Amino acid sequence: MSLVLDPAAQDLLFREARTANTFTDEPVTEEQVQAIYDLVKYGPTAFNQSPLRITLVRSPEARERLVALMAEGNQPKTAAAPLVAILSADNEFHEELPALFPHFPQAKDAFFSERQVRESAAAMNATLQAAYFIIGVRAAGLAAGPMTGLDFEGVRKEFLDDDHTPLMVVNIGKPGPDAWFPRSPRLAYEDVVTTV
Ligand SMILES: Cc1cc2nc3c(=O)[nH]c(=O)nc-3n(C[C@H](O)[C@H](O)[C@H](O)COP(=O)(O)O)c2cc1C
Repeated sequence: MSLVLDPAAQDLLFREARTANTFTDEPVTEEQVQAIYDLVKYGPTAFNQSPLRITLVRSPEARERLVALMAEGNQPKTAAAPLVAILSADNEFHEELPALFPHFPQAKDAFFSERQVRESAAAMNATLQAAYFIIGVRAAGLAAGPMTGLDFEGVRKEFLDDDHTPLMVVNIGKPGPDAWFPRSPRLAYEDVVTTV
């Protein structure tokens, strides 16, 4: 009663959405990824810094290189998913700030001249955007399989550069047979929420 979002949408995005471990062969199109991005780009970040970068791993050769960098248990799903995305944080996001935060263009120099400050801001805000991205994948009627079991330095060297920090790899597609274990319990409201 307290939620205004249509109950079917609540189920699609949260209650019935699962982290898929297997996928059908149905391709994930460029149009679908574009629609997902054009939705989730509106999720908030500090100073609107928008540091998430998405690398779609589409070629078989690139997929092979990525699979080799995944933890053993993650390799079969990364090899089989219709689409795999590397999500990373752009540590040089401040270059876009004058355009992205036009009512305070001084933010770039006032707050983000130091690389260390940028790295921690980019990690937090790109991780937030990664969460929006997972929900966006669900909004497209697809399942996401986010993974952090991987060789991060290897992924940075093979697919990114020193200005980008890999955050996670996400398998994307329609869930296949036996796509998940039984749903694990979640913490109850009383265990999580305190009021002061
Ligand atoms: C940031 C992140 C990293 C994860 N890394 C892995 C991973 O390396 N391998 C794996 O099999 N599952 C991984 N998972 C999947 C989680 O175990 C799964 O999302 C969680 O248990 C909830 O499952 P459910 O959505 O089916 O309820 C990861 C999930 C997230 C969000």
